[in-house]
Amino acid sequence: MKVAVSREENFNAAHRLFNPAWTDEKNDAVFGKCNNPNFHGHNYRLIVTVVGDPDPSTGYVMDLKTLSELINDKVLRQFDHKNLNLDSPHFRRLNPTAENIAVVIWNILRKELDIHLELKIKLYETERNFVEYPAH
Ligand code: NI
Repeated sequence: MKVAVSREENFNAAHRLFNPAWTDEKNDAVFGKCNNPNFHGHNYRLIVTVVGDPDPSTGYVMDLKTLSELINDKVLRQFDHKNLNLDSPHFRRLNPTAENIAVVIWNILRKELDIHLELKIKLYETERNFVEYPAH
């Protein structure tokens, strides 16, 4: 009897999308405004979903207060109000697209959760653009 439970959190961060192997012209053509050399910001909406069997003694898949604290402690503390390119070691060589941010967050949280729980990340970069990892 698998049940999915989710917690939404928000963080604000700056980034710049570019490939250092490319010319300025190619970066501009591919990434457009997101290639702005002086960075730009997003209000990210992060939805973390945990799937598992409700514990017979609590009825919880996972206490969402615990999940919220985990997201705040392990993810938001290092990303919120930061420049992802400059402040985060995760993105020294990894382009901080929503796709890559979602994968990084999944990898951070995966280590913290019970092995029996499935983890899914949904990340909104804008109101209309969002990514999901894993895809299925
Ligand atoms: Ni952007």
